[in-house]
Amino acid sequence: MRVLVTGGAGFVGSHLVDRLLVEGHRVSVVDDLSTGLPENLDRARSLGLAEADLHVLDIAGEAAADVIRSARPEVVVHLAAQPSVAVSMRDPLLDAHSNITGLLRVLTAARDAGSRKVVFASSGGTIYGEPDPETLPLAEEAPLAPRSFYGLSKKYGAECVRLFAEEYGLAHASLALGNVYGPRQNPQGEAGVIAIFAQRLLAGRPCVVFGDGLNTRDYVYVDDVADAFVRALDRGTGLINIGTGVETSVLDIHAALARDTGTTAAPVHEPALAGEVRRISLGVGRAADQLGWRPATPLADGVPKVVSWLRESDRS
Ligand SMILES: NC(=O)c1ccc[n+]([C@@H]2O[C@H](COP(=O)([O-])OP(=O)(O)OC[C@H]3O[C@@H](n4cnc5c(N)ncnc54)[C@H](O)[C@@H]3O)[C@@H](O)[C@H]2O)c1
Repeated sequence: MRVLVTGGAGFVGSHLVDRLLVEGHRVSVVDDLSTGLPENLDRARSLGLAEADLHVLDIAGEAAADVIRSARPEVVVHLAAQPSVAVSMRDPLLDAHSNITGLLRVLTAARDAGSRKVVFASSGGTIYGEPDPETLPLAEEAPLAPRSFYGLSKKYGAECVRLFAEEYGLAHASLALGNVYGPRQNPQGEAGVIAIFAQRLLAGRPCVVFGDGLNTRDYVYVDDVADAFVRALDRGTGLINIGTGVETSVLDIHAALARDTGTTAAPVHEPALAGEVRRISLGVGRAADQLGWRPATPLADGVPKVVSWLRESDRS
């Protein structure tokens, strides 16, 4: 199948590109390398990704639309985005450039290219806002009430692909991802607490916990997420949570990483950040029913893989 992945040089995108190539799909990537890295695609190159199929372009521009129209992908997997809640709160216009204008450019081009399906990376950690703790893990029927401009753009994105489907006949699925973690996550970024903490602990520096650290997230391993996207190429429709159903606090993540890195440094607390929710975990019944997907990697197996990756790369 011909698959075009926007954001394919990023953390999640590059794992998905590897997996698609292993399965024999023909893959094109559009990425402006704003947060992605060319070296994230080293394995993809060894698996046959041609340089001519890597298009370093802003998805919000007309040139990206031209690439999509001429590639005529059967499925577009749309991952390119401004990925940080904090950046979206500091600069909503910057967020909107990629997450609203870029989204519409990609959807319009996919329609013009005659694509059969768009699979969108939404965000289960932000679109639901602050849920009633009694309702955790959250099902997709929960109200969508984002507390950040990033979350609002991910809610809009899911609704936008649905409307494109209704108006123009494209099939669609929006995977509402929990907090994805794994090798290649940028430890210098503004999101991705596991990579950030692991790098700081390996370097012997204290970790900064915003707020009391009892806020919880649903951490899902990147290979499991890539697997969900592959399944969604020809299965699944609408909003589908991709998480584990398990809540883990930031302090628990710190404790697990301190153990795995062999350090004892206590975290430093700073005021909580704007736009962040207190508790979240995602029910995955719909993913099981529609995609035949279940998370395969418990945190206890995934966290040491991040530590090993940082130790082996020159990032620690
Ligand atoms: N990592 C998570 O925990 C998580 C959780 C929920 C949703 N998501 C979503 O999954 C997707 C991938 O996230 P990630 O963690 O891999 O982040 P990432 O920053 O590693 O990947 C995003 C990629 O998009 C590219 N990009 C950004 N703006 C672009 C633009 N205007 N034009 C072209 N390329 C552009 C970046 O260069 C990068 O390679 C994003 O849509 C993100 O919002 C991620």
